[in-house]
Amino acid sequence: MAKPTLVLRSLFSYTRVVSAANTVPFAPVQTLEPKQATSVDQEEGELDFSNWVNRGMAIRTGGSIHECLGNLTAALDLVGKLNEFEYAGAAGALTLLPTAGALLGAPTREMWIVYKLVPIAGLLSMLLSLGGSITPSNVGDYDPDEPFSYGGFMPTNAVTATGRAPKSRRTSIGGDDVEHLEDHTGAQKFAEEVRQRADDDSGAGTYLRIWAAMAVQLCLIVAFLIPMYYAQRGSVITWWCRSWPWMWFWYCLVTAVAIFDNLVAAPFTKSWTIRVSRTPTGLILDETLRKITDPRYPNALEYIKAGPVMNQRLRVSHVATSYPRTCFYVVISVQGISPVHAAAQVLAKTGSVAVYAFGTALFASATIMSISIALMVLCLVLPAGVAGRVIAMWIVSSMSQQNKPILHKMVRSEEEAGRYFHAIAELDLQLEIKGHVIVNGSIVTSRHSWFTPATYIGLLAKPFDVVSLATKTTRGLATSNSHGTFYTGSIIRWGHSLLV
Ligand SMILES: *[C@@H]1O[C@H](CO)[C@@H](O)[C@H](O)[C@H]1NC(C)=O
Repeated sequence: MAKPTLVLRSLFSYTRVVSAANTVPFAPVQTLEPKQATSVDQEEGELDFSNWVNRGMAIRTGGSIHECLGNLTAALDLVGKLNEFEYAGAAGALTLLPTAGALLGAPTREMWIVYKLVPIAGLLSMLLSLGGSITPSNVGDYDPDEPFSYGGFMPTNAVTATGRAPKSRRTSIGGDDVEHLEDHTGAQKFAEEVRQRADDDSGAGTYLRIWAAMAVQLCLIVAFLIPMYYAQRGSVITWWCRSWPWMWFWYCLVTAVAIFDNLVAAPFTKSWTIRVSRTPTGLILDETLRKITDPRYPNALEYIKAGPVMNQRLRVSHVATSYPRTCFYVVISVQGISPVHAAAQVLAKTGSVAVYAFGTALFASATIMSISIALMVLCLVLPAGVAGRVIAMWIVSSMSQQNKPILHKMVRSEEEAGRYFHAIAELDLQLEIKGHVIVNGSIVTSRHSWFTPATYIGLLAKPFDVVSLATKTTRGLATSNSHGTFYTGSIIRWGHSLLV
């Protein structure tokens, strides 16, 4: 009958042995061994910032990896027990950085507008995104019929198309033609929407606020690059001993992958962006000139694609001329992506996963990283990432407070896109597409899109000043008549054709 007690006792003693191994009653000590005292000294007191940074750089001074590792070993031997745990904790905390992009959350439906409207602000947002994506990859996120939230601000006067085409005509026509007709009326309706939006010139406020927001974005980037600079100099990566800019390297890598990811994330391979503004008054166009709605081309888009070099003679009449101060964007996108684009999307996703793994490994293996420095880096980088996102949303909301800055049309084929563009080209508007400036359907000048400010600052750039171009041409004509600088006009035109 003694058996159960035996089992119980052995179980009890076994448990006791285990618990004793973990919690030996701790007897407070009075005197420390020299090594323990050093450990306490290291942990106590303030961080000597310059000594900390200099130690990291002194370890790296050797001429070879071997010397660097030798000095790192020596430095680690001097580190006390308490500091060891501090350093391990700091390295662990820093592994939050590679996840910062994910902390910011999925891209919101407004974010692509930032990039479309002010490309530089979009780029700055990408630099602040710490690997997060700002371009939505769902087609639904680009649907203009769904209201954008704009962080609480709604565009006050939404543009709605009027003049619905009568549908009775379709009865006698075959199926294919009905679709064509519907597309056609769709294009007309959209053109009408564009015309109405162009008439509504409100929201011409100065864009000073946007410039200020971009300046803040730039400051935020600098604000986290500086603490990173010191953190990377003071801490040494064991498997990458001699290089000090390892944090910056990670940041560049993560940003490069994020930018690539953002550029290919949009679910459209083909998309045309048109800057639209009202036609300046007081312009006289040569009426014999060819229009981009030339019937020899299937549609105006084909005409643009054929790459016309046409610089038309414009004259300004002597009545007061006015040139529009604001413009807005019309974007026509063909739904669907090409196989190459799809492959690029997969590549971008693979790249970001690889960089995520690499970043975590890098931060986790940082040695002699002080906890104060790690917290300083985290406190500056994480809020900067969040603030970058908030600022981008603010830019969208302040640009669309009064009016829709962007009209987006998603179509099914390039041919349909051509029809939509054709319908817009028939209107009496000033359009800019791919560097061509089109007034009332005729190309008046062409520049390479890389040389137009709109490519970089988007909506902040004023519409192309056709009036001053016309004034120049008129003056050129006048001087050439009076034997003056005969070549002025032709040199200007020659210059333009060079840039195309
Ligand atoms: C430490 O670095 C110095 C150069 O600063 C080098 O001469 C020395 O050999 C290194 N020590 C070891 C143990 O490699």
